[in-house]
Amino acid sequence: MKFIAFILIICTAPVINSLSLDFRNSCNCSELIYLNDCIADSSDCVWNSYTSECTETACSSIERSSHCLQSSQRCYWYNKKCKNFSSCESIPGKSQSECLQANIYCPASNGINCFSTDFLQKCSDINDPDICNDYYSSKGKCMWNGQNCIILKSCADLWTNSTKSCEQSGCYFDQYSYQCRDMTCSQLELQSQCELGAPTIGPYLNNVIPCTWDTNSGLCKNAKPSDYSVDQCYTYSARTYHWGSSKPNRGGCVPCESFIFSIIIVSLMTIII
Ligand SMILES: *[C@@H]1O[C@H](CO)[C@@H](O)[C@H](O)[C@H]1NC(C)=O
Ligand SMILES: *[C@@H]1O[C@H](CO)[C@@H](O)[C@H](O)[C@H]1NC(C)=O
Ligand SMILES: *[C@@H]1O[C@H](CO)[C@@H](O)[C@H](O)[C@H]1NC(C)=O
Repeated sequence: MKFIAFILIICTAPVINSLSLDFRNSCNCSELIYLNDCIADSSDCVWNSYTSECTETACSSIERSSHCLQSSQRCYWYNKKCKNFSSCESIPGKSQSECLQANIYCPASNGINCFSTDFLQKCSDINDPDICNDYYSSKGKCMWNGQNCIILKSCADLWTNSTKSCEQSGCYFDQYSYQCRDMTCSQLELQSQCELGAPTIGPYLNNVIPCTWDTNSGLCKNAKPSDYSVDQCYTYSARTYHWGSSKPNRGGCVPCESFIFSIIIVSLMTIII
């Protein structure tokens, strides 16, 4: 039994400590057992004080577009209203950018409706420079290099002899090296930015580096979500971790159970047993 536990820890540790946070692993409300996580500004949940349980806010009551379009596959934003989600295909969206403004889990478009990430094109399959630039493939952002549509491997790819640009979420321009570079926690100068983590150019939905604000130095630094304090855990982890106890002085910052994570555990158990 100890051996099984050991194997499980070894094999799942990379998942827990993975470098960037995956929005697909966002907590759902029922997983938020600590009151302050449930009522956090970033959550779209309500606390039921009779049952001490956290439940979903009705989509129609969500007023901020950012909450609505990130709220898992439950709601979507359309015509300045938050509506009940049924499927990506039922959301009108003429382009990827329209679909991204409705629901981040439906980033593909056929020119009429939105579609899930499964329908995203590969950068190399795109022939139109205008579509290529700014397109999110599932592996990350695309860029037209003059001849082909290529996947951006790092922000440095944006700053070439033919295209000198660095205007891209997940990148910043470094004046010392005169290079376009990948965003890091240390580039985030405000605590409010630091809390959201450092955005990167990909892979899509798995593109936030967890950061923490060091109050002593006033600097933003890289962090491991499992080290987050009770007040940081849920908000600083792009809502993918939550406090593991209903009491602030117990438990720790633990990942919300994700689909992928569960599959790994289940398949490991199947192999072992
Ligand atoms: C929330 O997550 C829990 C645990 O993974 C799962 O049992 C439950 O069905 C989920 N609820 C919703 C509404 O997705
Ligand atoms: C949206 O979903 C909620 C919860 O499932 C339901 O109570 C409500 O009636 C739905 N609203 C509409 C407009 O379908
Ligand atoms: C970019 O331009 C510099 C200076 O003209 C040249 O030395 C370099 O080889 C060029 N790089 C590429 C990748 O074309």
